[in-house]
Amino acid sequence: MSWTVKKIRESKGKTPLATITAYDAITARMADEAGVALILVGDSLGTTALGLETTVPVTMAVMLHHTTAVRRSVKNAIVVADMPFLSYQINDDDAIRNAGRLLQEAGADAVKLEGGTIRAGLIRRMVDNGIPVMAHLGVLPQSVKASGYAAKGRIEDEIKKLKEDAVAVAEAGAFSTVLECITPDLAAELTALSAVPTIGIGSGNACDGQIIVIADLLGMIEGPVPKFVRKYAEFAQTGKAAILSYIADVQSRAYPDESHTYK
Ligand code: KIV
Repeated sequence: MSWTVKKIRESKGKTPLATITAYDAITARMADEAGVALILVGDSLGTTALGLETTVPVTMAVMLHHTTAVRRSVKNAIVVADMPFLSYQINDDDAIRNAGRLLQEAGADAVKLEGGTIRAGLIRRMVDNGIPVMAHLGVLPQSVKASGYAAKGRIEDEIKKLKEDAVAVAEAGAFSTVLECITPDLAAELTALSAVPTIGIGSGNACDGQIIVIADLLGMIEGPVPKFVRKYAEFAQTGKAAILSYIADVQSRAYPDESHTYK
């Protein structure tokens, strides 16, 4: 089925939404053909595809480039482009211009931005101007230098603030809200409080859907993964084994053979 922002919004309380990140046309096609509802061109592409330490250095140019590639191969899922650090924090006019570019130049269906009550006015303006917005609460990777990666929901003030934030972004018009690394009981409460679907990552299984970084799901990077990741494949190992076989075949002249040669 073809997904729309409206269908995502209306899926609240129904079958959980399976969503994923992707950063290029090849992996996005794989995810789309498998049937995910939403593909996020996350700024996590900085720490996965680009090998950066954090998402902070990711720019608008990078997001436009990768969103354009993903858009080319996605037919059924909705494509959400992450707004990178400093593309929406400076002022609302700048933010709307940048969000508009992700829709107009790169073909995204919606944008995602980090933050709660502080972003409510901006979300309202974007939505009023035809830009669907996904909100993002909990661990906010763009603010990692200020607030770190520790899970949220263990401190009274933090719990109160997250509840206000979940209500504020939904009331402002966000069509869904990512909950990143929030304790599962609080994520369940936020899901009950929020009028729109919550999409969890590291936030337990009571959310209206889940999102996972494609490189984690496919096991594209060897070594430890965050506690909340379930690897569904071992692409790094399979890929390396295939490349080792290729090297051996080239060195022994087993590849290419007759069947790979033009007559
Ligand atoms: O950038 C990203 O991939 C994200 C997800 C972790 C939700 O924001």
